[in-house]
Amino acid sequence: MPQTRNDDRVARAAGESPHRTVDSPGVARRAEPPPLPPGSRLPSALQTALWLRDPVGVLVRYGRRYGDIFRIGVVGVPGFVYVVDPALANRVFVTDRDIGRAGEAREGFLEPLVGSHSLLTLDGEEWMRQRKLLGSAFHGKRIERYRDEIAAIAADHVRRWPVGEPFALRPRMQAITLEVILRVVFGLRDVERVERLRELLPRLTGAGESVNALAFLVPPPIWTRIEALLARVPGTPMARFAALRKATDELLYAEISRRRTDPDLADRIDILSVLLGARDENGHGMTDAELRDALMTLLVAGHETTATALSWAFERLVRHPRVTERLRGSLAEGDEGYLDAVVKETLRTRPIVPDMPRVLTEPLDLDGYRVPAGWWVSPSPLLLHRSADEFPEPKEFRPERFLTEDAPSQAWIPFGGGRRQCLGSHFALLEMRAVIPEVLGRLRLRVADDPAPEAPRVRNVTLAPVHDARVIAKPA
Ligand code: HEM
Repeated sequence: MPQTRNDDRVARAAGESPHRTVDSPGVARRAEPPPLPPGSRLPSALQTALWLRDPVGVLVRYGRRYGDIFRIGVVGVPGFVYVVDPALANRVFVTDRDIGRAGEAREGFLEPLVGSHSLLTLDGEEWMRQRKLLGSAFHGKRIERYRDEIAAIAADHVRRWPVGEPFALRPRMQAITLEVILRVVFGLRDVERVERLRELLPRLTGAGESVNALAFLVPPPIWTRIEALLARVPGTPMARFAALRKATDELLYAEISRRRTDPDLADRIDILSVLLGARDENGHGMTDAELRDALMTLLVAGHETTATALSWAFERLVRHPRVTERLRGSLAEGDEGYLDAVVKETLRTRPIVPDMPRVLTEPLDLDGYRVPAGWWVSPSPLLLHRSADEFPEPKEFRPERFLTEDAPSQAWIPFGGGRRQCLGSHFALLEMRAVIPEVLGRLRLRVADDPAPEAPRVRNVTLAPVHDARVIAKPA
């Protein structure tokens, strides 16, 4: 029987229950199958609707009622289990090695957009090949060389922000992060091509989202057929999506082809150019189709997420003037430690991606419960980041907690974990560290209307501020 929280964690990590006993004196040990994790009996459709309306409130209530592991009804999913303890989260991440399929959980709604070679939707060997190829371009040290270009893009945008009138930050941040993807990731230099993709890509992802809202309700194999049929019927969201994808693909394939023969290729540092030089263990490079899917994957995974994180950073900063002043002071002294802590505390208090599910190919025993094969299991960053054991006074926005050596790292999971951990985490952190000082250096922001915190609301796969982080700016 575990005696301490640490023992308890060890037992949990081993799949044992810290609270169930099966033996009793004089009675032969019975082989009782562990029960399903606890959860509400409300219909899945109702649970999903409640979650969509108030994601934080619903999870906090479930966590209080059921503890560190519980099930929640999600439409279209056979069973969905959240875990809320670092050791249990780690057990889920470890399934990436064998029985957990993160790609399968995303495939149904993402594949039409990101294609069949995407890191996001693949599993097994094929995923491993793409991860190694793309991984070469995303190493921490390599990423650092993009900082100046990102800062210059941000400066150019911030100069054009309105002064003296309320505006929403999220669309502005989306414009910055889209430009970063086009110039730093895709490596576009030609103004006209940037313009064309700047106009097309948001329309394509927007159309993809309307299609997804429908895909959510139908199992993937059936959905693929329905989608293919409706794509031929003019005026349907699927036909619109198909036309936009065709137009975008033409531009992307043309860019890939031009880049292959670019005489400056060896000197170029943008991600696409680096990927053109990547080789797998058999010495093979990436095909055009793989490169196209990689570009769409990086756009889909890295654009809205980072824009939302930046919006939350300022939603928090304008409500915490003391933190903002300390940040200004430390930046003026050329110290980036506090900036890094502000970024981490933003992602702790406002995790952007609320779940990171794995579909199980075999049953998984966790904390005395059994999650059956075919079910989805996900750590919950929302609840883990609110644990008072891990983060004292968890509701406080206090970046200082990340300045000490012993800041808990296992409980801080905004980028997921295991083998499927976010490929772009260093890139995203760098982007935030590059953009925030450009804003603070030029403008003083304050809350636009309501001083109460903006609630998180579900937007695609992210949690964004309900009013898109509204502020008023004046020159710094
Ligand atoms: C603040 C911004 C971001 C957040 C919060 C975020 C979060 C996440 C999370 C939670 C996952 C799933 C991890 C898991 O299942 O364990 C993920 C996966 C991924 N992210 Fe990010 N991400 C961000 C920015 C980016 C950027 C900038 C890029 C690239 C430019 C990127 C590329 C990816 C890719 C390719 C995957 C799939 C990895 C795989 O399955 O092997 N992300 N991200």
